Amino acid sequence: LAQIRVDVSGLEPGTQLTVKFLGKPVFIRRRTEAEIEEARQVDVSTLPDPEARNANLPEGTPATDPNRALPLNEGDGASEEWLVMMGVCTHLGCVPLGDGAGDFGGWFCPCHGSHYDTAGRIRRGPAPENLPIPVARFEGSEIVLG
Ligand code: FES
Repeated sequence: LAQIRVDVSGLEPGTQLTVKFLGKPVFIRRRTEAEIEEARQVDVSTLPDPEARNANLPEGTPATDPNRALPLNEGDGASEEWLVMMGVCTHLGCVPLGDGAGDFGGWFCPCHGSHYDTAGRIRRGPAPENLPIPVARFEGSEIVLG
C-alpha cells in the first residue's frame, strides 16, 4: 500500500501545507485555539452533514471537532490542533481555498460556492459532505498518510 510521511515540525499554528497523496491534494493544517474553539461550539445536529467522514473512525461517527482532528502520539496528550483532510470538494471535486476562506473561517470552494468551517465540515453551498479525512497518524513529528 502507498504511504507517505510528512514532517510537520516546522508548521506553526494558523498555517497549513498541501501535499499530494495518491494523485490528490491533502491539506494539513495546524489550527489556532480560536479555530478549534469555533469548531467546538457547533451543534452537530445542525450540520448539513453530521457524520465525521473520518477513515480512522467507524462509519456513522458524529462530526464533533475531536472526531475530525488527528490525535497526537500516544502519551502526548489530547489536542485538536491538527486537521488532515483531502483537498477535494465533495460537490464536483474542485480544490477549495484555505487559510480562513469562506463565511465560516475555514475553506471555500470557488467553483460553485461551498463554505467549509474550521473543522472542514460543509456549512453552506452545494457540497453534500464534509471534506473526507484519509487514513493518517502521527509518528514522532511526522504525519503518516495511508
Ligand atoms: Fe466545490 Fe462545486 S466543486 S462547490
